[in-house]
Amino acid sequence: MTFEIIPYQNTNLPEVQLPDKEFLNQLGESGIRKLSNDHYNLLRKSEINNLFPEDDIEFEKAKLRSSDFLIQIMGGRPYFNENRGKPMLAQRHAPFKITPKARLTWLECYSEVLKKIDLEEEIMSSFWKYLNMLSMRMVNTPEIQQEFTFNFK
Ligand code: HEM
Repeated sequence: MTFEIIPYQNTNLPEVQLPDKEFLNQLGESGIRKLSNDHYNLLRKSEINNLFPEDDIEFEKAKLRSSDFLIQIMGGRPYFNENRGKPMLAQRHAPFKITPKARLTWLECYSEVLKKIDLEEEIMSSFWKYLNMLSMRMVNTPEIQQEFTFNFK
């Protein structure tokens, strides 16, 4: 399938639909852990690497939080609630400046990883759509305005 990115919008956001549980059933917990691992490793090499923990141990913990969340929302064990409490994802992302461009990079890194996974198109596209829609809600910073140089002469 082609991993098209749905353009960012900040109004009239439709309700986010959870991905097909078959995504978890077929990949298993270990597949989801690998997914987060590979996604985060790409993020670390991307232009938004400054958003993520520099410390290796903290970085590994971030991978775990991300996979805990995915396993939980697809009907697996509620690891995220057990380890972190209520998801409140928008609130947890608030300390980080997430621009529409950062969202694009985040999704592009995801698509690189997903491309290598062999799953039925319907299952894969439900997961991809979920990431596209939920990521719009994590954007909390408009694009940096271009700076103007005034010439006072
Ligand atoms: C718009 C693109 C996104 C960006 C740039 C982004 C960036 C970040 C950053 C910087 C953190 C904190 C460091 C860390 O713990 O990894 C984080 C945490 C997290 N993100 Fe995202 N994120 C995005 C979208 C999403 C989406 C769509 C999901 C859900 C599928 C998600 C799930 C999480 C989770 C579960 C955490 C850990 C929260 C915690 O326990 O503190 N993120 N994200």
